[in-house]
Amino acid sequence: MIKVDISHVWGQISLPDMLAMEKEVFDAHETLTEGTGAGSDFLGWLNLPVREATEEITRIQRAAERIRRESDVFVVIGIGGSYLGPRAAIELLQGPNHNIGKGKGNPQIFFAGNGLSTRHWNELTRLLEDKDFSIAIISKSGTTTEPAIATRALRWMLERKYGTDGANRRIYAITDPCKGALRQMATEEGWENFIIPPNVGGRFSVLTAVGLLPLAVAGIDIMELMNGAMDAKEAYDLRSFENPVWQYAAVRNLLYRNGKAMEIFESYEPGFKMFGGWWQQLFGESEGKDGKGIFPVTAEFTADLHSLGQMIQEGQRNIFETMVRFDAPENKFVIGSDWKNLDGLNYLEGKTLDFVDEQAFQGTVAAHVDGGLPVITMDCGELNDRKVGEMFYFLELACGISAYILGVNPFNQPGVEYYKRNMFQLLGKPGYNK
Ligand code: PA5
Repeated sequence: MIKVDISHVWGQISLPDMLAMEKEVFDAHETLTEGTGAGSDFLGWLNLPVREATEEITRIQRAAERIRRESDVFVVIGIGGSYLGPRAAIELLQGPNHNIGKGKGNPQIFFAGNGLSTRHWNELTRLLEDKDFSIAIISKSGTTTEPAIATRALRWMLERKYGTDGANRRIYAITDPCKGALRQMATEEGWENFIIPPNVGGRFSVLTAVGLLPLAVAGIDIMELMNGAMDAKEAYDLRSFENPVWQYAAVRNLLYRNGKAMEIFESYEPGFKMFGGWWQQLFGESEGKDGKGIFPVTAEFTADLHSLGQMIQEGQRNIFETMVRFDAPENKFVIGSDWKNLDGLNYLEGKTLDFVDEQAFQGTVAAHVDGGLPVITMDCGELNDRKVGEMFYFLELACGISAYILGVNPFNQPGVEYYKRNMFQLLGKPGYNK
């Protein structure tokens, strides 16, 4: 079980306040699981975890084996909820440099269609030169502009390289079962395809083929991940304050009511950055509406202690932190001795890097609490495929409950349309008059 430690928030909220939240949290949890709240058409994610592979999962595993066999590179096209989850899990489990040394049998994985940068496109085409590659196009609506442009371009590259039939064998589509341009293209061109259930929104879709296909291609055991999610589904259904999901959802709302309008979600693992990005979208898009919401920020320590540290320690007191911790890996790095000791580091001789990291963590918590910052700690235990599945479900559940406590619909994102409307007008898209 993930442990949430709230002992460093008591200076900012009181125990009676916390206890008074019990009914609110209970009601929010009930509203979510009973499907009686706003956005209840999008609760399919609650029941995605399974213990045994379904037919769809078996097909995903087979497709992944084929992609691994036939490709040096696998390009995952998608934006927002259609790419952050798989990228988050791959980087957390395999590190930010996971592509180094990979090739056919265990392909490199690159992400495309998550922006409109020509530089990024030029770099990708260079990376694909002389490489065998396959692509997955992920889009629930099947009409999002950024992935659609990347799809058109990568499809042409595949066709030039392998011919039309060869290209079609290397394209995998993940989309709505019935609607959208991508569904139509997949049917017409005969691409192998997987579905995003209509009742699962983008940012809650990591446990569908959206996450599972890229993760299986990366060599992650997707049934272990699903089992972790199932562990979470069972363990965090508990209706009491012993449930760490309740503790997290309640405390962040209490802090928000006390003027803490920004949450920094952080870890001491560089591989955590994209997981922070996934969390940022999950909470940001779910809660930021009707003039409300905690602004989600992500940080990597100790690196960002040397950039954001000053602001966190002594800037505006409208911030709280959630520190995500993992057990130290078994493989230790021991700091050696140097007879000259010019760097003055001999006082650390024989100590492990983990030991130093732990003291940095303890020291940072103490400093930030002294600086008036509430700190929530989330202890996740051993970092493995199963744990990541548990973390995904834990945070999705916490987000749904937290958003209902806040009084917003967690499952829509009307604000995202504003930039699109302006962009389409400027681009002269049919139906968008100036
Ligand atoms: O959470 C969401 O719904 C969004 O972030 C979408 O995932 C994102 O806009 C991409 O949409 P689509 O999958 O339809 O291309």
